[in-house]
Amino acid sequence: MAEELHIVSGEKELVYETLRPQIEALLKGETDVIANMANLVAALKEAFGFFWVGYYRVQNDVLVLGPFQGPIACTRIKYGKGVCGTAWKDSQTLVVANVDEFPGHIACNARSKSEIVVPVLDANQQVIAVLDVDSDTLDSFDEIDARYLTLFCSYLAD
Ligand code: SME
Repeated sequence: MAEELHIVSGEKELVYETLRPQIEALLKGETDVIANMANLVAALKEAFGFFWVGYYRVQNDVLVLGPFQGPIACTRIKYGKGVCGTAWKDSQTLVVANVDEFPGHIACNARSKSEIVVPVLDANQQVIAVLDVDSDTLDSFDEIDARYLTLFCSYLAD
């Protein structure tokens, strides 16, 4: 396993593409999902400098804060609440260009302006967690982020 990430600067698709094989290799050698979530959020933080990036894990009927990088955050989110709870309920990726325009958005930190939430599915297509990435600028995420973050999260279930 590589001990240091090789990170390029440039268009985000290039950054994701450079990360892809490294993240795959990093996660493949480990079966513990928490360890893999921890390394994945650390890699994303290091590569992109996201304001906040982390997991909420499904624990019975609620999302509970998991491995993350960034400021302290809300620990529990109910099913169907906020962006995270909605992504869990609908089992769907949500890209929110302006969090103030998302009904029921949960403001863990006032500096968060836009976010993307990607569900993590197990082999039975059940949501076991969500990956939440927050930016302190508006409209930071698009289908490129959705595509790569979904791919990276799929490695967790392998
Ligand atoms: N904004 C999220 C809550 C999690 S924090 O942003 C880290 C939401 O509305 O679900």
